[in-house]
Amino acid sequence: MKPFENIQEQDKEKQLDSQEVIIIVEDLEKSFASNHVLNGFNMKLFKGENLVIMGKSGSGKSVMIKCLIGLMKPDRGVINIMGKDIVHLDQSSLDELRADIGFLFQGSALYDSMTVRENLEFPLRRHRERFGKNIEVDHMVLEALESVGLAHTVDLMPGELSGGMQRRVALARTLIMKPKIIFYDEPTSGLDPITSKEIIVLMKKIQQQYKTSALIITHDVDCARVISDRMILLVDGINYAEGTYQELIKVDDPKVKAFFK
Ligand SMILES: Nc1ncnc2c1ncn2[C@@H]1O[C@H](COP(=O)(O)OP(=O)(O)OP(=O)(O)O)[C@@H](O)[C@H]1O
Ligand SMILES: [Mg+2]
Repeated sequence: MKPFENIQEQDKEKQLDSQEVIIIVEDLEKSFASNHVLNGFNMKLFKGENLVIMGKSGSGKSVMIKCLIGLMKPDRGVINIMGKDIVHLDQSSLDELRADIGFLFQGSALYDSMTVRENLEFPLRRHRERFGKNIEVDHMVLEALESVGLAHTVDLMPGELSGGMQRRVALARTLIMKPKIIFYDEPTSGLDPITSKEIIVLMKKIQQQYKTSALIITHDVDCARVISDRMILLVDGINYAEGTYQELIKVDDPKVKAFFK
């Protein structure tokens, strides 16, 4: 079923074995009537790694993410995030877990009528109990903005920022929650190549600075090359091929090659 599952290396397996696994997905299946989207998808996310998932449009990447965060119930399979069984978790435990997960979805989705500061304060207020009464909101807002290089925009409105800056503010809003895992869905889509590169560099910096683990969905081969520690190619509803970028570009299979054209 999975022709390239064991690309090269026992060595890497060993190395990964010693690392902590923070997401496990096993045999995930999801269909919509006769549309079999996921047909036994498997995935592990290791602590501190950037895992890139590539798949063509309609291959089920968003369905997979929705299953992971409990927005959609899979038909079958196991999803375990930081020790929690997502498929059977009650709503309040799910909410609690979601506070540890940051999202950066396509389009920055900032609130247009709020300043940058208010946009960043919003999740803090929503999860107030998480940080206790004495949180220093101003400090946290500035710290998060500084980490994306935009402290000077704190009193501006989103409409006064460029697309790339808006994406960075959205990233700051994710970071302010100090997530352990970040899900990025097409983080560079709609951005010009130079701005895309800035976002990619920033994602890399975040991984190093905050020791976050990340699941990154992208069509952008350049992004995948720079950002990924490991990649999974989602084809026909399964993890068709896995490996590092350098390993996958050498695989001689038409479905794999199609990604790197
Ligand atoms: N709620 C739903 N009801 C019925 N079908 C759905 C639903 N959500 C997704 N699908 C179907 O599942 C398939 C996978 O959709 P999905 O959105 O996961 O694709 P994707 O890989 O994220 O694509 P893209 O790269 O365009 O975002 C598609 O055929 C889609 O029509
Ligand atoms: Mg999608």
